[in-house]
Order: sequence, then C-alpha cells, then structure tokens
Amino acid sequence: MNLINGREKKIGRNDPCWCGSGKKYKVCHEEFDRKIDMARLAGHIVPARKLIKTPEQIALIKESAKVNVECLDVVADKICAGMSTEEINDIINEVCKKHGAIPAPLNYCGFPKSVCTSINDAVCHGIPSKDEILMDGDIINVDCSTILNGYYSDSSRMFCIGDVDPEMKKLVDVCKECVELGLKEVKPWGFLGDMGQVINDHAKANGYSVVREIGGHGVGLEFHEDPWVGYTTKRGTDMLMAPGMMFTIEPMLNAGEPDVFEDSENNWTIYTEDGSPSAQWEIQVLVTETGHEVIAW
Ligand code: MF3
Ligand code: CO
Repeated sequence: MNLINGREKKIGRNDPCWCGSGKKYKVCHEEFDRKIDMARLAGHIVPARKLIKTPEQIALIKESAKVNVECLDVVADKICAGMSTEEINDIINEVCKKHGAIPAPLNYCGFPKSVCTSINDAVCHGIPSKDEILMDGDIINVDCSTILNGYYSDSSRMFCIGDVDPEMKKLVDVCKECVELGLKEVKPWGFLGDMGQVINDHAKANGYSVVREIGGHGVGLEFHEDPWVGYTTKRGTDMLMAPGMMFTIEPMLNAGEPDVFEDSENNWTIYTEDGSPSAQWEIQVLVTETGHEVIAW
C-alpha cells in the first residue's frame, strides 16, 4: 500500500512505475515510496509525486537553463556604470530571441519587463527602465527566468558596479556564501529546513538579516511550483527532499532590519524598510540520488 497525498494507491510490484520510466515498480520507485510513507507517518511534509521530475523533463529543463545562464553571462560581460537597466532588459530579450526562448517575467502577473533588476535597497522585483542608470558603487541583482519549449529555469546574480563600499561588497559575498552553504544541505531524505537554517545562521553570524516574506520555489514545469522555500526554517523541519525535486535557493539578505515594503506605484518592487542595502543570489537545484546538481546559476 502506498499513500499518495493521503490517498491509497495500489501499484503491483511488477507493474510499470508511476514515474513513467517504463521500469517495474519494484526496481524503480518502490523504495522511494516506502521512504516517503515513513516520513509522512512520522509527521513530516513530503513532496507530491508531481514535484518529482522525470529524466526527460530534467533534460529539457537543462536546455532551458543553458539559455538562462547565457543570459546572465552576457550581462556579466557587459554590465557597467552608465548603463541603464533597460539595456540589461534588452540583453535578456536578445539572448532569448536567439534561442527561441521566452523571458518568463514578461507579462507574468502583469510584470512589464523581461528581467528583474534590483539596485542597492531594492530587495527584488525591480523593473528595468531607461531612466535608471547604474552608478559607480551600486550593487545590483539581475534575476533572470527563462522558458524554453515550455520548461522553466530561474537564477540570479549580484553585480558590483565599479568601486563598491567594502561593507556592501561583504553583504554581496556573504549572501553568495549563504547559497553555497545551503546548497551543501541539499540531498535526498534531508529537509528543506536544514538548508534554511544554515543560510539564516550564516547571515546572522555576519550581522545581516534574512527577508522572511519572500522565498524560493519549486521550478521546472512551471515558473513557481511547490514547495515554497524559506530561510527562517529550522533543521529537520519543512518539506522532505527527495530525488527528482527541483527548486530555487534565493535568500535575500539585508544589511539592516529584515522588514521590507512594496513600491506603491508599480506594485512590484520590494525595498528594505530602513533603506539598508540588500543582496540576493539565486540558484536552481535538482535533488539527485546521491546529493544535488546545480541546474542554473
Ligand atoms: N525570478 C523571480 C523569482 O525568483 C520572479 C519574480 S516574478 C517577476 O521568483 F514577474 F517579477 F519576474
Ligand atoms: Co525564483
């Protein structure tokens, strides 16, 4: 007996596996289901089957991720003081067009542009504009999300423009370290909270706060899938990680207080309440049989 989303489903051990591999259940996901059932009975949150990507889906998502990474590589190459954030938007459009890809943010819930560009105290969801010019000393997050053949990829990087104050540079570096430390916790049969806790601990140890309201997400078949991925969670809590799950790790660290507010004019851009600078890095990661694989960064 297997309990899937609380419903009983019987699959014979010699029947084809539910994952679509064509293999017999007993040599495919039987052991997987046993572990999921045990975790559920122990009171843990477990992933639904639809969150488990097949090898075919993973291959297609990786193709999308190649375009995603190329977008950010080209931005990395060209970004400089004096450039407008609209020009970053142009780069994303160009690279996507070249590959027949679609920028996922464009028209997503009414978002007007193809990429999010968030400078200094902008935490995330900044909207590119020809009137917004990058200045020496700015830190900027460029958050790129890509659709290729219907498959989604999502990653973001920070860029330091010219001569950046060492305090701000440290914020950017520590945020990246948080993602790297969190990534080490991504392995099958661990918990999302293991990752959340190390990120929060590292941020706090450096005197920074972590934004609570906005988090990562499952990704691949859709832009935003379950689970929601927070960074104020505790080890051993939150969703169980199982092979085939794919999600983003995208903590936002503030130099000051964690409180944020939304721009009341564009209803998108999030800023720190106290005006302190904020940094974010985002990676897309797959849980594998033995650990994890970075899909986009
Ligand atoms: N890339 C953002 C994320 O990580 C997407 C924000 S929605 C947008 O989830 F419309 F602003 F792009
Ligand atoms: Co994301």
